[in-house]
Amino acid sequence: MLRITNLTKVYPNGVVALDNLSFEVADGEFLVIIGLSGSGKSTLLRCINRLIEPTSGRIEWDGIDITAASPREMRRIRRQIGMIFQQFNLVRRSSVLTNVLAGRLGYTATLPSLLHIFPKQDVERALENLGRVGIADKARIRADQLSGGQQQRVGIARALMQEPRLMLADEPVASLDPATSHSVMKYLEQLNREQGITILCSLHFLSLARRYGTRILALKEGRIVYQGLPADIDDRRFREIYGEEAIQVEIR
Ligand SMILES: Nc1ncnc2c1ncn2[C@@H]1O[C@H](COP(=O)(O)OP(=O)(O)OP(=O)(O)O)[C@@H](O)[C@H]1O
Ligand SMILES: [Mg+2]
Repeated sequence: MLRITNLTKVYPNGVVALDNLSFEVADGEFLVIIGLSGSGKSTLLRCINRLIEPTSGRIEWDGIDITAASPREMRRIRRQIGMIFQQFNLVRRSSVLTNVLAGRLGYTATLPSLLHIFPKQDVERALENLGRVGIADKARIRADQLSGGQQQRVGIARALMQEPRLMLADEPVASLDPATSHSVMKYLEQLNREQGITILCSLHFLSLARRYGTRILALKEGRIVYQGLPADIDDRRFREIYGEEAIQVEIR
């Protein structure tokens, strides 16, 4: 279980990106985080694996205090937390396979230039994970020669190499077309349902949040304005989250 208590992040320029957030995520949930641009979604996800240092508050996972972990402990914890980035974060000039293998080292490690340092079974698993996201045939191609949707799937395959128990996905489909968005979201759903990986995923579209989330957490100006089932977001709640002027846009 993930427990966040009084989490606050104030950036050096004084912006309060997270304002005293408290919530819990049970194992096996698919929690979708929504909210307007600037509401704090990325900051929240990045605080959880401490890519961003929280200003105050606690983040506990399985009883371990992530906020107090030493750099060494943090490396161990990060190996169990996968991360999918909106902008993919691939090494563009390296092959797809090398990018996926880099997941073995965690997403913060620098990429070793020599493929042969990876054991054979890692290479096999990398190919397997590429197969799982439907692009096994692209293994030897340079990452920058893939389409956006394919690059995002490389990012997912890379995150899978960690065999994470918790997956953080920061707008994993923001740069993708509707059909590709659904295919990427379906992979996440499959991981969640079949392997029991807990997922925290930020999304821009409420229609996607409704379709894939087992629960929704809505942020506004760094505070939680809604926590509950997707089906319970009615028009009034929608306007609380997105503002009076907002209209719902569908992605089908
Ligand atoms: N490095 C930074 N330094 C200062 N302020 C920042 C920094 N990163 C983010 N912010 C501010 O913190 C607030 C929350 O930003 P954040 O990126 O978490 O929002 P978001 O919900 O992910 O937005 P988006 O939907 O556009 O990705 C915003 O006001 C933003 O301008
Ligand atoms: Mg963001």
